[in-house]
Amino acid sequence: MADNGPVIDPAHFRQVLGHFPSGVCVVTTVVDGAPAGFAVGSFASVSLDPPLVLFCAANVSSTLERITRAGAMCVNVLAEDQEAVCRNFASKSTDKFAGVGWQPSGNGCPRLDGVLAHIDAHVSDQVVEGDHTVVIGRVTDLAVHHEGGPLLYYRGGYGRFVI
Ligand SMILES: Cc1cc2nc3c(=O)[nH]c(=O)nc-3n(C[C@H](O)[C@H](O)[C@H](O)COP(=O)(O)O)c2cc1C
Repeated sequence: MADNGPVIDPAHFRQVLGHFPSGVCVVTTVVDGAPAGFAVGSFASVSLDPPLVLFCAANVSSTLERITRAGAMCVNVLAEDQEAVCRNFASKSTDKFAGVGWQPSGNGCPRLDGVLAHIDAHVSDQVVEGDHTVVIGRVTDLAVHHEGGPLLYYRGGYGRFVI
């Protein structure tokens, strides 16, 4: 049998990894005219040439299944005053877009009002690793919308960037 290394307690894994601070995005898509999206802290840039980005999605995420079907997404970078938006999109609500202003982005996926920036991409690859899938997107359009501060996530709580 293959040696998979030492057993790591999941609660310990979460607690230690929670010490790595992140920004927060809402990744959106649209399937059959219906918008979908979820909060993501695992977003990162991958490559400049070609322009690639990635995020990791739990295999059980309903949004992941929709992004796979649509083959397109919009990454919305949340501003410091958008904690409520993040909590809403981190929920299992079936109507996450109720009360949220948005416009269709260049690829038709929802671009939320008030975000710092957005990145449109089409899915160029998906790699299943354990209980998550790494989704790699080829960037098709991107823009900054305002220069406010970012929403940050650290040790299970929300915060702001202070210099
Ligand atoms: C700050 C924050 C960051 C998150 N980052 C991720 C992530 O990177 N990947 C992921 O799959 N879920 C992440 N989640 C959890 C999802 O947003 C949550 O499970 C959501 O309910 C999934 O919805 P869906 O099943 O409708 O796609 C995060 C939640 C929060 C609050």
